[in-house]
Amino acid sequence: MKVIIVKDKQAMGKRSAQLIAEDMQKRTPYVLGLATGSTPLPLYKEFIAMNKAKDLDFSSVITFNLDEYVGLPPQHDQSYRYFMNTELFDHINIQKKNTFVPDGMAASPEDFCAHYEAMIKDVGGIDYQVLGIGSNGHIAFNEPGSSLASRTRVVPLTENTRKDNSRFFKSIHEVPTRAMTMGIGTILEARKIILLACGENKAEAVARALQGPVTAMVPASALQMHPDVTFVITEDAAPQLKTPYGSYFEKQ
Ligand code: PGA
Repeated sequence: MKVIIVKDKQAMGKRSAQLIAEDMQKRTPYVLGLATGSTPLPLYKEFIAMNKAKDLDFSSVITFNLDEYVGLPPQHDQSYRYFMNTELFDHINIQKKNTFVPDGMAASPEDFCAHYEAMIKDVGGIDYQVLGIGSNGHIAFNEPGSSLASRTRVVPLTENTRKDNSRFFKSIHEVPTRAMTMGIGTILEARKIILLACGENKAEAVARALQGPVTAMVPASALQMHPDVTFVITEDAAPQLKTPYGSYFEKQ
């Protein structure tokens, strides 16, 4: 695993965009796995700037998002489809038909999850997966206790995550209770993975993910088993890291 410690969110966005852009030159069509939340926003800003400057072409890029709330339609301003359109897709030269977010309104969310897995396989798998991390160590909506071999599925949301996300809704009562999420096993099949984290509220989760035991109680710790993972984290998310033994550290 590589760990890149940067000064602030802007540097996190720039460094992660560079790494992904470099890999995007290697394959066409290129399959990107994307995440929502506040953490990847600096990365998406950078993607938009690079695309506008004609330094990065998304015309043959295919994207798969990690997760979506069950029960929110794409027009809902808290749905992850809406987030992706407004924060990234509407501003770059990607073909919308090549952007996939789980369908929160699917008649059978369970069947949809199996279909989503098949779609990822059909395009040859994900080349680069972008991840955030929850303060409890979750990745996507794989909460503590999720099987490390889990696949795309419907999950109940924990009170912790509903509380974290309630800041985006009028009240916690409006936060959906279920979501569809790629599983940890699904995520681990991506060729490369980049995890972004900023803020001191992520420091403990980052340390446990990188240097704690691999355990279902810290879903991000499963990344220790993947051969090509890079953490790009801000200084304030790094202080609980101990010896860099076994990892490649780059401090900017
Ligand atoms: P955040 O969420 O980027 O809004 O902090 C990350 C996550 O919960 O995965």
